[in-house]
Amino acid sequence: MRNDQFLSELETKNVFLFNDNVENKYYSWESPNIIISDGAYGVSGFKGDTHSYDKLVEWYEPHIQEWSKKSNAGTTLWFWNTEIGFATVHPILEKYGWEYVSCNIWNKGIQHIAGNCNIKTLKSFPIVTEICVQYVKKALLKIEGQKVSLKDWIRQEWNKAGLTLNQANLACGVANAASRKYLTKDHLWYAPPAEHFENLVSYANQYGDEEHRPYFSIDGKNSLSKNEYEKLFHVFKGKYGITNVWEVPPLHSNERIKVNNSPKYFHLNQKPLYLMSLIISVSSNEGDVIWEPFGGIFSASLAGHQIRRKVYGAEVDSNIFQTGLSRFSLLYYPNQKAFF
Ligand SMILES: C[S@@+](CC[C@H](N)C(=O)[O-])C[C@H]1O[C@@H](n2cnc3c(N)ncnc32)[C@H](O)[C@@H]1O
Repeated sequence: MRNDQFLSELETKNVFLFNDNVENKYYSWESPNIIISDGAYGVSGFKGDTHSYDKLVEWYEPHIQEWSKKSNAGTTLWFWNTEIGFATVHPILEKYGWEYVSCNIWNKGIQHIAGNCNIKTLKSFPIVTEICVQYVKKALLKIEGQKVSLKDWIRQEWNKAGLTLNQANLACGVANAASRKYLTKDHLWYAPPAEHFENLVSYANQYGDEEHRPYFSIDGKNSLSKNEYEKLFHVFKGKYGITNVWEVPPLHSNERIKVNNSPKYFHLNQKPLYLMSLIISVSSNEGDVIWEPFGGIFSASLAGHQIRRKVYGAEVDSNIFQTGLSRFSLLYYPNQKAFF
């Protein structure tokens, strides 16, 4: 089977893979629910990686700009890197509207350096970790051409309706949580749960100043529904017993792709499907859209596909792309060795 035939077949299964520079593709991809970034580390890890972390801002900024354009409030970004790589790129992510949620540490354990580390010359503890930082696209609403945070918008709408803080408690049927949490200006603020948001909307539309109805509307015609409001928040379905330290050995099993029957690893940066599957399953639902802009051999796309997500991936290097593609062909044509 030819590449293009198989790629078209994959498209019917919601897998969209491209052998191209992802910068040529972003415009055509559907808005993502999750982006999994496993790009430059500043360690010369693949052709095109930078030689040190201080070039990472330049490397990532054009990508981050595109991610921000195509993402929605609540899109989750998983940013794989080294500690210093993350520290370097973090201000740029913030600048483009990505909110830090948490830093997860992949601890590969002593096996990662066994027999391969000279502590005397290193003069620091040997590194056996990578990190995967969770970010979320901030909920900024576009109201009359202005970007407004959810916190400011909820308070502004309530004030516009001419209602008192106390009436918010009444609307939500709570002692004082609504006025102290949902409408406060200080750091104690948190977003009303969807049911309480719905209560605030219907109360404001019933008792608020008639002149400015409907309240809590983005288009000026209809109030935001509970369903629309829920979409402003990222999905997270944590699993009991899983913390932000991932004790997973380096990938040495059969899953590790080798160069033509040799013991040599095909891709230095191949990530375990287990970890990709974990982050995808906790932060998305079936049918959601996953982007893997720096595909390598497409570990995130493969993991996402296996748990029924719609995946978009790009890999610029043809040889690497081909090997990534063959991982998919093995799923559907396991008996065909020389597939392409
Ligand atoms: C760190 S590796 C990703 C490894 C991947 N997570 C896996 O498990 O196989 C980064 C990959 O991104 C590719 N890459 C770098 N810049 C790219 C770009 N602008 N567009 C598409 N691919 C790119 C590199 O060729 C490299 O294979």
